[in-house]
Order: sequence, then structure tokens, then C-alpha cells
Amino acid sequence: MSNSLSLEELYLDLLKKCLTRYGFSERYEEYEPRRGSLKRALEAPVRLLLRLRRLELVRAKSFNPHERAEGRDWPLEAETMIGLRRLDNLQFCITDLLQRKVPGDFIETGVWRGGASIFMRAMLRVYGDTTRTVWVADSFQGLPPPDPDRYPADKGDRLWTVVQLAIPLEEVKANFAKYNLLDGQVRFLVGWFRDTLPRIAADRFALLRLDGDLYESTIDALRHLYPKLSIGGYVIIDDYGAVSACKAAVEDFRSEHNITDKIEPIDWTGVFWQRSL
Ligand SMILES: C[S@@+](CC[C@H](N)C(=O)[O-])C[C@H]1O[C@@H](n2cnc3c(N)ncnc32)[C@H](O)[C@@H]1O
Repeated sequence: MSNSLSLEELYLDLLKKCLTRYGFSERYEEYEPRRGSLKRALEAPVRLLLRLRRLELVRAKSFNPHERAEGRDWPLEAETMIGLRRLDNLQFCITDLLQRKVPGDFIETGVWRGGASIFMRAMLRVYGDTTRTVWVADSFQGLPPPDPDRYPADKGDRLWTVVQLAIPLEEVKANFAKYNLLDGQVRFLVGWFRDTLPRIAADRFALLRLDGDLYESTIDALRHLYPKLSIGGYVIIDDYGAVSACKAAVEDFRSEHNITDKIEPIDWTGVFWQRSL
């Protein structure tokens, strides 16, 4: 199969495997109990002692290539958790957008360590597009606590306590730099989506990749960005199958705006559609 790939496709194939550490067989996963949990409090002194000696707590695990390809596990070191299938989908969408010259920037809302956004920037570089910007939107401190009065579907969600989801801006920038892809075509939008997305300095998008898990994070992105999506552009929803609140936000938004474009599945959780009207 690899013999039939062009050099550009071979680079992108290798990049996807690096960004997911697919085939690099990570043997450990992070061990960090939730913020505010008893376990975390009890283990704090041990953790401090270890840190002073530059040691970390990790848990052994066996690498499962199928899970990694499907983005079902949380990698210790990989720059993205979305797996190979959803990166393949990103490649498909961007190749198509560039071929059809659909105008507009690309954005990912919810980037974690930045891997999927790094892949977007790489594709622009590979195909010589010097006009578009990749917008990298995140709080860079994890998810917001749920606001059940405004968004009942998020009630009880605990993802905001998960320390592994809080990746500082400097670390994400360093990840772009590691792949030689940190430059003026990448712009970082720092803060909660409800504050940053209404004020984004972009008029038009060709690609929206939404990966913020919550109802709030999904609906905020759709409300502020979908009106700027070009006809023929794509919207990708990472958590549609995995998080029922995310799916509810998509369904509410689509019915409010009479959107009937066919939702296509990517894998067990990701979906996408192409805007026709
Ligand atoms: C599941 S991770 C994203 C995974 C990433 N796309 C990848 O390639 O691995 C979710 C991210 O969304 C961010 N996030 C979720 N809701 C947010 C909000 N309302 N405002 C800002 N950031 C948010 C979190 O900080 C976290 O980095």
C-alpha cells in the first residue's frame, strides 16, 4: 500500500503515526487521581517527594493498537487522543477543501496537546497553502465546570476535574515547534469559548473541528462559528458518539437552524457533515 503513496502522503502517514504514537507501543499511562478526590489528597505528600527527586507516578499498561487507532485510550505522550481514523477523516476533509478551493480558515475548538491542529497546519504546508490560518482554541486549563442552569445536559459532568485535560499554552506551542510547524499561520485563542469565539478575528472558515466534550462547549462553537462556515465546508464533531450532551447540542442546533445535511459517521464517536446551504 505504501508504494502507491506520494511523498506528501507518506509524510502525512508518518505524521499521523507520530502524533498518535501508533506503533510506538507506549507501555505506561499517566497516574493522576481527579482534582479534589480523597486519593489525590492522601497521595499528595508521596507525589511531592517523588517530584523533588524528579520521579513520576505512572501505571503500566499493555498497548492495544486497535484502541489507539480508534482513539479510545488516553495516550501518555502522544500529541492527540483522537486516533488514526479521525486523523484520516481530517486528511480527507482538508484534501477535498483544498482541491475544491473552498474559502476560509480552519479551527479546532478543544485541542488538548494540539495534535489534530498540528496535523491541520502540516496539511497546509504540504499542499503549499500560504493563505489560510489554523486557529487553535482552548482554555489551556481544561474544561469549565458545568453550568446546569443554562445547560442542563451538562449537569454532573466531572471532566473539569480531570487534570490530564489541562495542557498549558506553552506546552502546546512547544508541540507545534517540535514538528517545525509553529509560525504565523497558526493563531492561538486562549480562554473559554463563550468569551473568545464571539470575538474571533476571522470572517470565514472552511473547516470547523469541534472537540470540547460538553453541551456548552459544542453549542458555543456552533453558534459563533457555523454562520461563518463556507458553503461546501465541513464541520466535524469529535464527541458525538461518546458524550450524549455533545450529541444533544448538535441536534438542538441543527433543528433550530433547519440543517438537514447528512451526518456521516467517522468511527465509534466522531461524525461530520458538509454544509450545503
Ligand atoms: C478531549 S480534549 C481535545 C482533544 C484534542 N482535540 C486532541 O486532538 O487530542 C478537550 C479540550 O477541550 C478544552 N475545552 C473544553 N471545553 C472548553 C471551553 N468551553 N472553553 C475552552 N476550552 C475548552 C479542554 O481544555 C481540552 O483541552
